[in-house]
Amino acid sequence: MNTQHYSRHLATLMERYQQALEATGYDQVVISAGSLVMVAEDDRAYPFTPRAYAQQWLPYDVLPDTFIVFTPGDKPRLLWPARQDFWHITPTEPTGDWTGMWHLQPATRLDDWLPSLTGRTAWIGPEHPALAQNKPGLEINPAALTSALAYTRAYKTDFEVDCLAEANVRAVRGHRAARDAFFSGQSEAGVYRDYLAASGQLESTEPYSGIIALNESAATLHYERRSFDVPATHRTLLIDAGAKVNGYASDITRTHTTDTGRFAELLAGVDALQQDINAAIKPGVKMTDLHRITQAGIAGLLNHHKLCSLSVDEQLSKNIPRAFYPHGLGHLLGLHVHDVGGHQQSVQGDVRNDPENPFLRLTRTLEEGMVITIEPGLYFIPMLLNKLINAEPAHGLNLALIEQLKPFGGVRIEDNIVVTGNGHRNLTREAFGD
Ligand code: GLY
Ligand code: MN
Ligand code: MN
Repeated sequence: MNTQHYSRHLATLMERYQQALEATGYDQVVISAGSLVMVAEDDRAYPFTPRAYAQQWLPYDVLPDTFIVFTPGDKPRLLWPARQDFWHITPTEPTGDWTGMWHLQPATRLDDWLPSLTGRTAWIGPEHPALAQNKPGLEINPAALTSALAYTRAYKTDFEVDCLAEANVRAVRGHRAARDAFFSGQSEAGVYRDYLAASGQLESTEPYSGIIALNESAATLHYERRSFDVPATHRTLLIDAGAKVNGYASDITRTHTTDTGRFAELLAGVDALQQDINAAIKPGVKMTDLHRITQAGIAGLLNHHKLCSLSVDEQLSKNIPRAFYPHGLGHLLGLHVHDVGGHQQSVQGDVRNDPENPFLRLTRTLEEGMVITIEPGLYFIPMLLNKLINAEPAHGLNLALIEQLKPFGGVRIEDNIVVTGNGHRNLTREAFGD
């Protein structure tokens, strides 16, 4: 870890919190990482994901029952869970250069430290059963505070960009192994196993459930099954899978094919379109504009590859590209894969959706420090195609060619991109060495 980057990250976070606390009238804030959630009537827990507001402060994977107390003017206090337990691994005191920037305090019970906090206090995180009796009057997740913090999470510090870059490097190791597994004829489960092994992950530690879709299954946008059945032929692999570093996620999609004809040409076309869109990324650009340019690009591909005889403008006026590309161009990326604040237009929390493109998760104008995904796709989704054909008789579609291409499912290409002062940095293509 680059300690200087972390130190500046912590200073930035303290400044943001100080401003937000002052603006909302709180003297301090407690940030909870959350606790394990047990399966009903059983003695095992669901996989744990710490609350992002807590994870953002710390350069390691935060454990359940960790709390942070921040009072402006003082170092932040880390209450780490010093549990006594012989059934489970017990946490040890965090170590590293960075700990000098904190007050570290072992804590097992809320009662030991919460009642001693004075002043108007906000609590961010899930409610704790012991809260009411320990600190009545505590304000839980006040919206004015959380919306200011969510808004600023879009601007990544150098430390956060380091984590996101490393998360790309890790995921790309997996993507390479997955590609080899596909071309050696493995099942979805086999491809997934090789992805996890090469990226050094367990299913429970992925930032989101990796999508491993063979053949026509590539047309299901978030395909969840990982079948052990080996298909008779391997036409397509669409893999959308990431990795996590200190909680920060990568979110990468690649599509591979054994085809050498029309589907391979379409794949190359989507890849070229994706790179054209990437090239336009810089501060001041509107994601809503890029999304519309991408829709026009998809219409251009449909026309060029003789899937639709209508011109780009005619297709757009009839919403034809949306049947082939029904999702948004991308989203903010960070501690959440679909990071918070994508529709938020100010610290106050006012939101703006794109009514024409409700699935677009990012309507903010791009600014330096934002990290986003760019993920155009072109799919053969029977449900949407049938709807379009029924609703628009003058569709101009080449139905015979579409039938030939349905068994390939579709294409998506997704990169993770940092908006820099005057352009962008593509973390994904950098990790692939493209
Ligand atoms: N992996 C989910 C997404 O690309 O948005
Ligand atoms: Mn993805
Ligand atoms: Mn994505």
